[in-house]
Amino acid sequence: MDTTNQTSSRDQNHLAQQLLKICQRMSSERNLVALLDLIANEATKLMRADRASLFLLDRERGKLWSKVVLGSEEIHFDACLGIAGAVALTGETINVEDAYQDPRFYREIDSLSGYRTQSLLAVPLRTNNGEIIGTFEVLNKETGAFSKTDEEILKALAAQAAISLENAWLYDKMQQEIGQRKDAEQALKRTADELQAALAEVEQLKNRLQIENVYLQEEIKTEHNFEEIIGRSAALKKVLRSVEQVASSDATVLIRGETGTGKELVARAIHNLSQRKNTPLVKVNCGAIPANLVESELFGHERGAFTGALQRRIGRFEMADGGTIFLDEVGELPSEMQVKLLRVLQEGEFERVGSSKPVKADVRVIAATNRDLSAAIKEGTFRQDLFYRLNVFPLDMPPLRERKTDIPLLANFFINKFSKKMGKDIKGVSKATLERMESYSWPGNVRELQNVVERAVVTASGSTIEIDDSILGADSTPRADIEALQQVERAHIIRVLKETNWVVHGQAGAAAILRINPSTLRFRMQKLGIKRQTQNAS
Ligand SMILES: Nc1ncnc2c1ncn2[C@@H]1O[C@H](COP(=O)(O)OP(=O)(O)OP(=O)(O)O)[C@@H](O)[C@H]1O
Ligand SMILES: [Mg+2]
Repeated sequence: MDTTNQTSSRDQNHLAQQLLKICQRMSSERNLVALLDLIANEATKLMRADRASLFLLDRERGKLWSKVVLGSEEIHFDACLGIAGAVALTGETINVEDAYQDPRFYREIDSLSGYRTQSLLAVPLRTNNGEIIGTFEVLNKETGAFSKTDEEILKALAAQAAISLENAWLYDKMQQEIGQRKDAEQALKRTADELQAALAEVEQLKNRLQIENVYLQEEIKTEHNFEEIIGRSAALKKVLRSVEQVASSDATVLIRGETGTGKELVARAIHNLSQRKNTPLVKVNCGAIPANLVESELFGHERGAFTGALQRRIGRFEMADGGTIFLDEVGELPSEMQVKLLRVLQEGEFERVGSSKPVKADVRVIAATNRDLSAAIKEGTFRQDLFYRLNVFPLDMPPLRERKTDIPLLANFFINKFSKKMGKDIKGVSKATLERMESYSWPGNVRELQNVVERAVVTASGSTIEIDDSILGADSTPRADIEALQQVERAHIIRVLKETNWVVHGQAGAAAILRINPSTLRFRMQKLGIKRQTQNAS
């Protein structure tokens, strides 16, 4: 049996050198598992033992665990069990020659591993600040029992082992933390990248939306700035562009086009887009005022200017002062009036009927006609100089048959309008009807389309409207025929009036003969420009 006394100084020197080497190797090993292996192997050799085990204390779980005692397998057991437990608990060194004789020995380990423990030396693993982190055991000394020198050597080894283990632990923890931080940084970067990508997408969407908005606004501008003017055809757009151009100027506009093409609608649009939009737009239907009343209607009259002029009255031009006057059907203006209108256009002044005092008015003139004024000039019914004065900015309304793409839009617009008004739920037109509408010539243009749709909505029983050829034909009366009818009416009324010697009222009066109300007859006479002059002349 070895004792401290018997150890030669040479051996001690050698031992010290070996210890130093082991300690150096231990201090440079950062991997915890490799370190545990190193400590166990070196201790076994140095102590001439059969085995060495390091039990580490897991304070949180109250367990001792070892990776080395049974080879590569990890074992865990209660921190209070066995000699290892006792050492970890008390911090004492335990050195027993026969473990089985010691009641603290935990035999279970042997029966688990099939190992037979005999001598056993166990010391605590203590860190620098005195904290016990586990137990260091060497088993079965070659020569039987462990000596006091062995205890000192194991304590010295344990001191270095504890430091190295703590360092390896810290290092491990640090690595883990670094890893976690790296993971977290990466995750953060991923999130940031994802966020960046999402933001880029949002930005892209926003840009697209803005572009779409611009498109939409442009569309609204070209199609819906004129709220009630429906249509997207190139021909109509061209007109609307001109409307926009001319609106802001004070230029006189002459709107030409067939009946029902929207001349009045465009006149209103020009006024509403002009600086005069908050001032009145005064409309004069030159074709509907009896010739003898046109002058007073346009320029007003003084009291007593003519029979029945009981009050001074201002005319349409004065009413429109600061605003716009819309001279509809300007081609119907009697020739004396054409001269007076020319003067207003040239000098901005006129006289009330019955007065010689000139009146000034700041009026923008928009005129409209469905007549071919050039032909009227040739016929001598329209003054050329007036034409040039009016024709400063001509606008030609295209007939509906020349902008067929507007037909479905207009049809839907009117369907909506009338079905809402009549409380019907009509979705649209049948395909056959639409085709019929598109191939029809629409002599009455948009007005005719509007009337046809209104009629169809009235009679519709389903969710679509049907328009057959009979309806289309029925409304296709050309304007010339309407005028002819008015002429027939005019001539007929004059004939009856002549027969009754211009007596309207009473049993023998013209109204009774015509089977209409006297006031209705008076209205018709006024409308058709029928006056007693005829009789005076005869
Ligand atoms: N583009 C359009 N969109 C919507 N409604 C329209 C359009 N064009 C015309 N209309 C409608 O058609 C009808 C006729 O229009 P408007 O009175 O302006 O025509 P016009 O050319 O002055 O006809 P006329 O020569 O017979 O006086 C009106 O009810 C008008 O609202
Ligand atoms: Mg009109």
